[in-house]
Amino acid sequence: MRILSGIKPTGTIHIGNYLGMIKPMVASQLKGELFCFVANLHSLTSVFNGQEMRMYTHEMLIDLLALGIDPEQSVFWVQSDVPEVTELSWYLSNVTPQGLLERCHAYKDALAKGVPVINGLFSYPVLMAADILAFQSNVVPVGRDQKQHVEVTRDIAIKFNNTYNEVFTIPEPEIREELAVVPGVDGQKMSKSYGNTIEIFGEEKKIRKKIMSIVTDPTPVEAPKDPDKSIIYALYKLFAEPAQTEDLANRYRAGGLGYGTAKKELFALLWDYFAEARKKREELSVNADFIMEIRKKGAEKARAAAAETMKMVREVVGVV
Ligand code: TRP
Repeated sequence: MRILSGIKPTGTIHIGNYLGMIKPMVASQLKGELFCFVANLHSLTSVFNGQEMRMYTHEMLIDLLALGIDPEQSVFWVQSDVPEVTELSWYLSNVTPQGLLERCHAYKDALAKGVPVINGLFSYPVLMAADILAFQSNVVPVGRDQKQHVEVTRDIAIKFNNTYNEVFTIPEPEIREELAVVPGVDGQKMSKSYGNTIEIFGEEKKIRKKIMSIVTDPTPVEAPKDPDKSIIYALYKLFAEPAQTEDLANRYRAGGLGYGTAKKELFALLWDYFAEARKKREELSVNADFIMEIRKKGAEKARAAAAETMKMVREVVGVV
């Protein structure tokens, strides 16, 4: 079973990204053959600074390696290093009805907001279909927001197969039900666009400050507190062992536990949880050559896999 996962480089990653996407991706390395790439071409719809783009991509490679992607076991690459994908996206464009793309959420949202739509945003789902189909992926794990894109991919693949020949495997979306919504420091869903994130690899002082800024109610220290109404507890629960969680819940209910203390415990828990990854990240970030080597080898493996598909595609569309 071939599992394919793409992740856009967006700058710093936070614990919401980790729980929602990276942790399941790392775990999926044991379930099948993981194809995992940094989707830098998809970021071009919103990043218009080359230096920034390059930096985000490099940082994302390091982050994923530090958090457990194993480039020996998985195929791990940068999207733009496999030009076959952009070539494929053109062939796919020509079996993609305009109406299919007009129904996509990202495009519709942009229209509704009245912002000018660039073609890259409109065609985004076609490029994503090329990512998925070039590697004959069986399963694409995605969050709810990306489900539609995998459905569009299926439609495009079926249309292509019917028009030409049975070239593509029809992929299945695997919807990652969010185990729990990860709240940000203000209690809304954690998201970079709300500015309420807790970073994984930030400076100790900054992360501590972020955690100390979690919104709490004015219940006095001595009073019993309902853990289920506390953002601190909700975050703690996502990383702690069940016994630790129960202990904290009991201390909330008993009274005498201040939110400041609970925040300090949450900080200690998170700092410890990511200690190993942080160490690995520090080693990797001073070794740019090593990262480049991994990037190069990954691209070779990925290109070899895409080449098999492209041989058939070029043949059936008649460009060779
Ligand atoms: N569009 C995805 C996102 O925004 C990233 C992505 C690009 C992707 N290509 C993909 C995900 C292929 C899965 C498969 O999160």
